[in-house]
Amino acid sequence: MPAPEQRRIIFQHIDEPGYTNDIDCYIRNGGYEVLKKAVTRKPEEIIEEVKKSGLRGRGGAGFPCGVKWGLVDRKSGKPIYLIVNADESEPGTFKDRYIMHQDPHQLIEGTMISCFANNVKQAYIYIRGEMPHGARILEKAIAEARAKNFVGPNILGTGYSCEIFVHRGAGAYICGEETGLIESLEGKRANPRIKPPYFPAVLGLYQCPTIVNNVETLCHVKFIAEHGGAEYAKIGTPGNTGTRIFCVSGHVQRPGYYEFPAGTITMGQLLNDVCGGPLPGRNFKAVIPGGSSAKVLRFGERYKGKRKVGADMVDYDWGVEDVPMDFDSLAMIGSMGGSGGVIVMDDTVNMVEALANINAFYSHESCGQCTPCREGSLWMKKITTRMVHGDARPQDGALLKSVADQIPGRTICAFGEACSWPTQSFYLKFKDEFDGYAATKKQPKPDNALELV
Ligand code: NAI
Ligand code: SF4
Repeated sequence: MPAPEQRRIIFQHIDEPGYTNDIDCYIRNGGYEVLKKAVTRKPEEIIEEVKKSGLRGRGGAGFPCGVKWGLVDRKSGKPIYLIVNADESEPGTFKDRYIMHQDPHQLIEGTMISCFANNVKQAYIYIRGEMPHGARILEKAIAEARAKNFVGPNILGTGYSCEIFVHRGAGAYICGEETGLIESLEGKRANPRIKPPYFPAVLGLYQCPTIVNNVETLCHVKFIAEHGGAEYAKIGTPGNTGTRIFCVSGHVQRPGYYEFPAGTITMGQLLNDVCGGPLPGRNFKAVIPGGSSAKVLRFGERYKGKRKVGADMVDYDWGVEDVPMDFDSLAMIGSMGGSGGVIVMDDTVNMVEALANINAFYSHESCGQCTPCREGSLWMKKITTRMVHGDARPQDGALLKSVADQIPGRTICAFGEACSWPTQSFYLKFKDEFDGYAATKKQPKPDNALELV
């Protein structure tokens, strides 16, 4: 079956010729009309629409946005904060940066609608430290929106006031973990906090109720406020509503950003029909479907089981190409949709080298609070590095697996899972390559081996 048509909600205007990131262009294209109407409504109505929409967070975890808003402690008497998580750092993921660069007012409008709905008077956009250009664009866009009274005191004469501040991140992956981000925003080292029992919805920034939403998620809120939750829920599939943006990178002919109704496109359609298939003369070998933390999938493998279709349970028997690209289907086959970063590897890729590269990243980015994560990520890096450099020991494959297996579920934050899943899945799916390295004591260093520290 050919791929479905792209449905562009978030990227509706972004690539149009002449579309710029200034407020006049945004307003010419209907910008801020939704906010104007939203601030005349009852805030609870907007929250209800978001609940009805089934919108799931686009940062990676896919937690329902309406449920998250519903969990905010509104009785504490403390201010409620909203934080836009713009610390996009997941390797393979680059959609939020594109939105902020090309269409910052869409984010500001979605943020202001969300702030109004949740009675937030102060919002922060926490942008990744390595995105200074994006920070400057956002600062300019907020100034433009303030000048037109879409941000600031007494917005559009309604009596509702709300400020947005841009806060530049501290240049670490862990600053994107929501509680690490909050610590960083408070001026401290970004050490994640233990949750549960207390989630930011109850005790977040300055120990006040706080909503942390991803950039793309807040842009979807704008669409929902305009068209209603029921209309939004008609896009995509039950449980995976709205559109999904995929950032495809690696060994395909046309890497890039693509937006489709959620759950309507399979991996094969995305990679072959939309992205033009493998490079000439090559074959797909593996794909990581949801940012580097997701488990790798091997082409040629089959995934079998039962899944719910409507009220029935039906058998499925999928190759990687057949898997629908939604949160639930990817979870069913043991990986995840995550942040939508699809990393494609063809048969030129040495999986030991690829994992060594990923492990070097995670080992560098661990905040170091938990022993299994701090030591485990370091050892996974050491083992894969010595494999690449030809110094592997016979027991290294088993040792690598054993280290990876002892991290998940034993750490403060999800980084523990994120750093162990690549090793667990690479080793499981490409055991032959890893054991090959481990069995040969002095395997020559491949010509293109990465210089690993
Ligand atoms: P999580 O599942 O712990 O939480 C998801 C969200 O739901 C959080 O905002 C959390 O506060 C909220 N939540 C969950 N249970 C709750 C409850 N009982 N009460 C109130 N709120 C509740 O996942 P987490 O750690 O926030 O995110 C992990 C994901 O982040 C990974 O799956 C990964 O894909 C993604 N990620 C994305 C990155 C990016 O650059 N976009 C970077 C790194 C990771
Ligand atoms: Fe830090 Fe890793 Fe523990 Fe998360 S799991 S708190 S990154 S040491």
